[in-house]
Amino acid sequence: MSTAPLASQINQLLEPIHDFLLTPTPQAWLDQAAQPEALPLLLIDHLHCELKAAQSAALLLRRYILDKEAASQVLQWLLPYEDAIYRKQAVNLRALGNQIPRLKVATQTAWQARLVDRMVLLMKEELHHFTQVFEILQARDIEIQAVSASRYAAGLMRHARTHDPVMLVDKLIIGALIEARSCERFAALAPYLDEELSRFYVSLLRSEARHFEDYLTLAEEVNGGPVTEHVARLAQVEAELITTPDTELRFHSGVPS
Ligand SMILES: [Fe+2]
Ligand SMILES: [Fe+2]
Repeated sequence: MSTAPLASQINQLLEPIHDFLLTPTPQAWLDQAAQPEALPLLLIDHLHCELKAAQSAALLLRRYILDKEAASQVLQWLLPYEDAIYRKQAVNLRALGNQIPRLKVATQTAWQARLVDRMVLLMKEELHHFTQVFEILQARDIEIQAVSASRYAAGLMRHARTHDPVMLVDKLIIGALIEARSCERFAALAPYLDEELSRFYVSLLRSEARHFEDYLTLAEEVNGGPVTEHVARLAQVEAELITTPDTELRFHSGVPS
């Protein structure tokens, strides 16, 4: 495939993402993230982010839909990945790739059925990304360290309304913002990375863009109509987290201070 159609496909993917986010990644973040010495930390943080993305989806399923048995199936699904990262156990992640639990779920509403469908697919994809980043770390001899979480996700969650069903609407909008920012940052960072990583980050764009759309559609569905006002409110918080000084460099950190 020549590069021109690929570039236009990427632009097409990114257009709704750029429309949704209020601000692009600041150049100062890119300058620091592009330093070769920052790369191991960023990759380890990226690995944690992929697992957290899967865990957050699991949490939504467990809190809003699943019975005890299905909830424990979902936790079992995550366990080997958690063993690999938190307990440094030797796990054959590739062999796990297709072991997706068949959940028995009695959903009552259309949004519940869609939530199960979308979140299970999202988990599968995030765990696949986890495996890919894990293998890159192994190939580069980068030891997985504990990395403190950035202020980003918690900073957004602090602004979610605190009672359901609107808390769920806000959590889904926050999910859309995190996916959109990840997608934007993968694309922004790719030109600064070596060829292997650059190609890998571009390969992630399509699924992250879809995750963004899935979360947003779910938010509208749970809300029973447009969520424009709440997107505007939370996107403002997101933009502040991205554009204000931040003491730690992470995948979703603000401007290096
Ligand atoms: Fe991902
Ligand atoms: Fe994602």
